[in-house]
Amino acid sequence: MPSIFNIFIDSNTKLLTMDNFVFHNPVKVLFGKGETAKLSRNIPKDSKILLTYGGGSIKKNGVYDQVMAALEGYDITEFSGIEPNPHYETLMKAVEIIKEKSIDFILAVGGGSVIDGSKFVAAAVHFDGEPWDILAKAARVTKAVPLGAVLTLPATGSEMNGNSVVTKWETKEKLAFGSPMVMPQFSVLDPETIYSLPIKQVSNGIADAFIHVLEQYLTYPVNAPIQDRFAEGIMQTLVEEGPKVLANQKDYDAAANFMWAATMALNGLIAAGVPQDWATHMIGHELTAFHGIDHGQTLAIVMPAMMQYKRDVKGDKIVQFAQRVWNINEDSRDATIDAAIAKTKEFFETIGLKTSLSEVEVGTETIDKIEKRFEGRGFNIGENADITPADIKGILELCS
Ligand code: NZQ
Ligand code: ZN
Repeated sequence: MPSIFNIFIDSNTKLLTMDNFVFHNPVKVLFGKGETAKLSRNIPKDSKILLTYGGGSIKKNGVYDQVMAALEGYDITEFSGIEPNPHYETLMKAVEIIKEKSIDFILAVGGGSVIDGSKFVAAAVHFDGEPWDILAKAARVTKAVPLGAVLTLPATGSEMNGNSVVTKWETKEKLAFGSPMVMPQFSVLDPETIYSLPIKQVSNGIADAFIHVLEQYLTYPVNAPIQDRFAEGIMQTLVEEGPKVLANQKDYDAAANFMWAATMALNGLIAAGVPQDWATHMIGHELTAFHGIDHGQTLAIVMPAMMQYKRDVKGDKIVQFAQRVWNINEDSRDATIDAAIAKTKEFFETIGLKTSLSEVEVGTETIDKIEKRFEGRGFNIGENADITPADIKGILELCS
């Protein structure tokens, strides 16, 4: 029996092949309850550690105590107050402390913001010149302070990748950089940390991880069935396990599966050799930069509109996604794509997220500002580099 995917594949689709790739992910993962206790086996005893964290959730949920107990006898300096969507201005204070105290290891304890912020700090310490250039000018990072992480929020994949997103508060710019130099040496993933998460952070995390997969999957076919099926497996796991965590945050099994799915969604594995999009993220970052909207929430708004706007060029993969992830069985290509978009939007809504800009009170003024920003940058986005600033405006209007 031919699959629906074969029936509806666009006959104009060129048969492409996957790109060459180098896959190297050196992050050691310590996964499971109680693994924080093994920290000292992974940090040299004579290290001078900067313990970085956020607004204090780790003090309320016991993670701070676990870390301190595991690191008894170490020379530890604390740096707290790394905010969600970490600010360059805050992070530069940590850079100064590291230099002053000759600190030689950073332990980031928190969600994506703390880990991302710590990566930037690690790179900025040894950077010659203005460290903002690492983000604004993609200046190369050649050396970084070694770092490790204790993850407390499954979402970003930062615990197992070399990416970091930092906001300059002064100018409301939110920019990313990536370097193998800032990949954590190890990351502790204890699913019990999920128990204390505010429910909206669970929703954000499910959407963020799901959309990380879509950014690396919803492009065009390149005959890469391993990457495709891993990607589909991660999405199916998030669809099955995410709602279980929302229903009962103390369901250890569901928390564990959610956490591992989020890590696998953005650790390079499913990206190997395949085209990647990231336009939804780039647009979402602007919504956060201008309005402070949570990262996962911005993506849940933009992604269904992106699918609709790019339904022609993304059509083959949307059909495959429809069939394999949502078990959609419509009788035409168009109806299949419509159903996939509707189902994706409905999923985000059932996990408690908004799917339109009006619900987060973003109007035409912001849309115009975002279009201008992309115009100023002077390049298009998307896997085919065919999404222009005017298209970005069109996508945002679609989800208004
Ligand atoms: O600051 P604290 O007090 O720790 O509270 C945090 C924060 O308020 C809280 N929280 C975290 N773990 C908790 C907890 N509260 C109770 N119990 C716990 N176990 O949750 C709030 C949000 O934390 P944050 O770290 O901001 O969330 P997330 O992990 O979603 O990170 C978002 C940031 O990551 C970037 C985003 O742009 C954003 O800046 N991203 C990083 C990526 C990467 N490095 O690869 C990729 C992503 O696409 C994303 O862009
Ligand atoms: Zn993301």
